[in-house]
Amino acid sequence: MRTEVIAGDITEVGVDGIIISLCENTERGEAPSSAVVAVDSALGGAIGQLLDSHGITGKANEVIVLHSLGRLPAKLVAVCGLGKQRDVTLDRVRDATAEGCRALRKLGCQAIGTTLIGAGSVGFDPAASARAITEGAVLGLYTFTRYKAPEGSEVERLCIVSRDQSSVDQLSRAADVGVVLAEATNVARDMVNEPANYMTPSRMAETAMELGSKYGLGVTVLDRDDMVSMGMGALLGVAQGSAEPPKFIRIDYDGDDSTDARTALIGKAITFDSGGISIKPSEGLAEMKDDMAGGATVIAAMVAIARLKPQVNVTALIPAAENLPGGHAFRPGDILKSLSGKTIEIMSTDAEGRLLLADAVTYAITEGMSPLIDVATLTGACRVALGTVYSGVFSNDEAVVTRFMHAAVRTGERMWRMPLADEYRELNKSLIADVKNTGNRFGGAITAALFVSEFAGDTPWIHVDIAGTSNSTKDSGVTVKGATGVPVRTLFEFVNSE
Ligand code: BES
Ligand code: MN
Ligand code: ZN
Repeated sequence: MRTEVIAGDITEVGVDGIIISLCENTERGEAPSSAVVAVDSALGGAIGQLLDSHGITGKANEVIVLHSLGRLPAKLVAVCGLGKQRDVTLDRVRDATAEGCRALRKLGCQAIGTTLIGAGSVGFDPAASARAITEGAVLGLYTFTRYKAPEGSEVERLCIVSRDQSSVDQLSRAADVGVVLAEATNVARDMVNEPANYMTPSRMAETAMELGSKYGLGVTVLDRDDMVSMGMGALLGVAQGSAEPPKFIRIDYDGDDSTDARTALIGKAITFDSGGISIKPSEGLAEMKDDMAGGATVIAAMVAIARLKPQVNVTALIPAAENLPGGHAFRPGDILKSLSGKTIEIMSTDAEGRLLLADAVTYAITEGMSPLIDVATLTGACRVALGTVYSGVFSNDEAVVTRFMHAAVRTGERMWRMPLADEYRELNKSLIADVKNTGNRFGGAITAALFVSEFAGDTPWIHVDIAGTSNSTKDSGVTVKGATGVPVRTLFEFVNSE
């Protein structure tokens, strides 16, 4: 899809469909934007009448599509609700754009025009609106078409219409940032939506190499032999039950040569999680192809970073393996020696993600990286606790996590801080090894985070559990069915906020 910002009038733009937006209760005296007034008058007062009869309410996520009956160059008008004016955020702008674009696509629109949603009715900075609009459109119109042709036509052009000629360049630049962030998120979605018979650890490494050469990032891939000589016993233990060789992927971005400081983004990449010998029940097992979502999101965040070039140094580390119960598989009761030297008693081979993270975190610390942000589909318990909208955030550093939570608010990716409860640390104690890889039945997301924190030690570290949020069963705003690509945009926003 091509996106552009043009100076003009929304009632005159030559596209198939246009998007206008409106707040709830507009009929009770809150003035609608001048674009709504202009479109309404071109339509002979249709919008006003629908408001009077409650056919249009302006509620968040409402989209009412009207036919222009030849009164406008555009055939269709999508009137998108933003919710109550005092509640409108840039995230609502993203969602409204996504909903409006999807509604118009369904009706066959290939070129869409939109006003600067939120700039007129709510008074947002027009550049912030432009960026939110392109993010919303590119995220909301995402489809995964590698194995099945799209059902209808695709949107080819999105045209943001501003009445101010002098700001077009500035708005275009902001719109382009939104496109880059949404496209990067879609890179993660593409990887996660791939089935496990395609997206193996080796394919993840190849994908990282391809993206690295396309966007100018240094990519290094460690093979099993390298891991053996380094002593990554935890990662190797997980990988040994599968014929697919594990890979440890490192991606470097150098944006600031005045310092050695380097942030690490670590992503769990289990390309299929059968549970191993502690095998999972077959119900819902197909979903376990997205157990590499953490890895995919940190790879994709590096794409955004390489394209937008913040002045920071960032390295992504992706421990990748498949968790299968083959003849060489590790077993419950086994003891693994991690890269840190700490020994781990395996209570469940299904608690494999934390083992990968342990070695990756140790690697990052050995390389002097800080802070460390890990992203992982780590626990079913996190999904039970927070559901499918909020990711769980754990940290040992108040300042860093505060920055991260603020970044998340700006992107609209929902995050909820969870306690790294010292009281539960003893649950990970083992009689015969330094730690064991499961706690008990309760507080499973917390004991998993505590396990990883044993390896982070005092290095500032954040853990994001995306087990509930990596996938969606429905379209809603910028979220579409399938992989969500959460938290690619927050990772970028975080490193960009240094
Ligand atoms: N990949 C799973 C976590 C998961 C569960 C992600 C559901 C998405 C949806 C992880 O490897 C796992 O199996 N965790 C276990 C931990 C348990 C054995 C302590 C879990 O959550 O059941
Ligand atoms: Mn598992
Ligand atoms: Zn897993």
